Amino acid sequence: MLEMVQDRSSSFTFFLNDRPVEVRGVPGTTTLLRFLRDHLRLTGTKEGCAEGDCGACSVALLEPGPDGKGRYRSVDACLVFLPMVAGRHVLTVEGLRDAAEARRSPEAGFHPVQQAMVEHRGSQCGYCTPGVVLSLFELCYRDDVQGSDLRRIDEQLAGNLCRCTGYRPIRDAAVAVAGLRPSDAFRLRADEARFEPPILSYAYTPVSDPPALPGQLYVQPGSIEALWQALEEHPSARIVAGGTDVALEVTKKKTFPRVLIGLEALSVLGRITRLEAGFEVGATVRITDLQDQVGPVLPGLEKMLRVFGSRQVRNRATVGGNLCNASPVGDLAPALLALDATVVAASASGSREIPLREFFPAYRKTALREGEILAAVRFSDPPDGAFFTSYKVAKRREMDISSVAAGMMLHLDAEGRVQLIRLAYGGVAATPVRAFGAEAALLGRPWTEDSVRDALRVLERDLHPISDVRGSASFRSRLASNLLFGFYAESLGPDRDRLADRPTGTVLPPSTPPV
Ligand SMILES: Cc1cc2nc3c(=O)[nH]c(=O)nc-3n(C[C@H](O)[C@H](O)[C@H](O)COP(=O)(O)OP(=O)(O)OC[C@H]3O[C@@H](n4cnc5c(N)ncnc54)[C@H](O)[C@@H]3O)c2cc1C
Ligand code: FES
Ligand code: FES
Repeated sequence: MLEMVQDRSSSFTFFLNDRPVEVRGVPGTTTLLRFLRDHLRLTGTKEGCAEGDCGACSVALLEPGPDGKGRYRSVDACLVFLPMVAGRHVLTVEGLRDAAEARRSPEAGFHPVQQAMVEHRGSQCGYCTPGVVLSLFELCYRDDVQGSDLRRIDEQLAGNLCRCTGYRPIRDAAVAVAGLRPSDAFRLRADEARFEPPILSYAYTPVSDPPALPGQLYVQPGSIEALWQALEEHPSARIVAGGTDVALEVTKKKTFPRVLIGLEALSVLGRITRLEAGFEVGATVRITDLQDQVGPVLPGLEKMLRVFGSRQVRNRATVGGNLCNASPVGDLAPALLALDATVVAASASGSREIPLREFFPAYRKTALREGEILAAVRFSDPPDGAFFTSYKVAKRREMDISSVAAGMMLHLDAEGRVQLIRLAYGGVAATPVRAFGAEAALLGRPWTEDSVRDALRVLERDLHPISDVRGSASFRSRLASNLLFGFYAESLGPDRDRLADRPTGTVLPPSTPPV
């Protein structure tokens, strides 16, 4: 039976620090950060950059985990539109302290992560501290990190900028609470949480005359049929998945989409399926889940995901959003091109597969037709004995956009000749590209330094980099060549200098070995 899009409503509810909050009379594109600070006057959550870069606005969102139980995820409130949290539990720094204990004594009732920050002197001016505390809150309830796991602690904190304390005390606090999972009310709430898809059709109607803003409709269909219906009714609606790109268009470029269709409630698009020899990854799978579930099988992909934005960004950003924004410097495309991935485009009239290498016809354009969405991405495991990896070169290791990114796959035959080679790049043309010329120059040849040097001469003709703030065209060309040469060196094994992912992270001590 066709599920209809829910009747329009002018309000919805979410839970904030365990209390219901009704949202009414604000556009759906209002960010959670603005609502907390301007409407609820909860100013513990800070605003630093308002674009996902500093983590000062971090809050914790209770989300369904793969086992059906709830798990806390730290997210940047400046990147979250309010309807995305409809029906969900949000925790801010004001909600962490035990109120009854606090009444008993000004010293009592602090959450272990707050206590750890005090004991390890992790705060000075305090501006970043609520955000750090909420990042540590996620870390505290994670079941995949221990205090000894400095690399993961580093990843957890990379999205929280602190200008005064220095990261060692913050790291010490993180080490003290990582994976602690206390048996407290927060843990109980997560374990017992039941998740209903937040189906919504939220209409904002301006009240002032003349209106400061036009009306707006934010639809979150709960089934694929309802999605097609919404798209038919609103063909020019803006699709929004994790919203990490779309939010910036609203907050920074001041665009005001009249109709948005959110994919938040479509759990059918959020699954990762292990195929016989590969994966199907739903469009709304978050980067964190891709990292956790596919990363162990494909370390060459995980290496890229680890430096994708920050933990807060990865907790919201989706696979489909990363491909559909068609950015020439998006980080997934080069890795997925090297895996020869296929995207599944779906619409009311059915679905079709498009090889990813044909998905980006021009700058910021995709091969999706009107009425189509990206439903999933499919890729096969690398052949036995193949070498697959990825590289990201940016001005800093974490929280930066790639100057050049690459995904590469090599498979040699029994004689050491190149049987399969895929060289994919981002940041060297108007779209992510495969270097077909260089690949052809290598195919069938022995995998030697001479062959690679010959291919490097061809590679230049495959690429059309431009100069911009992240690097000149010649710098990008040089990077692309060096990455291929580094791939060659790395493919020879651990004895050669590897293009290793050395620890230059925020909180890792210099003695940490490369992975
Ligand atoms: C602070 C910060 C750091 C970042 N760091 C990185 C980084 O390191 N590497 C990187 O590659 N990117 C990065 N990004 C960009 C962004 O986070 C990613 O591109 C992300 O994957 C986008 O996914 P989303 O779900 O948030 O997209 P959204 O903002 O929801 O959507 C992006 C675009 O795709 C469309 N869309 C989304 N899903 C679908 C679908 N299923 N079908 C059709 N159209 C769809 C939307 O209409 C929109 O045009 C960063 C962004 C921020 C704010
Ligand atoms: S205010 Fe900086 S990440 Fe949100
Ligand atoms: S304590 Fe001042 S910015 Fe971190």
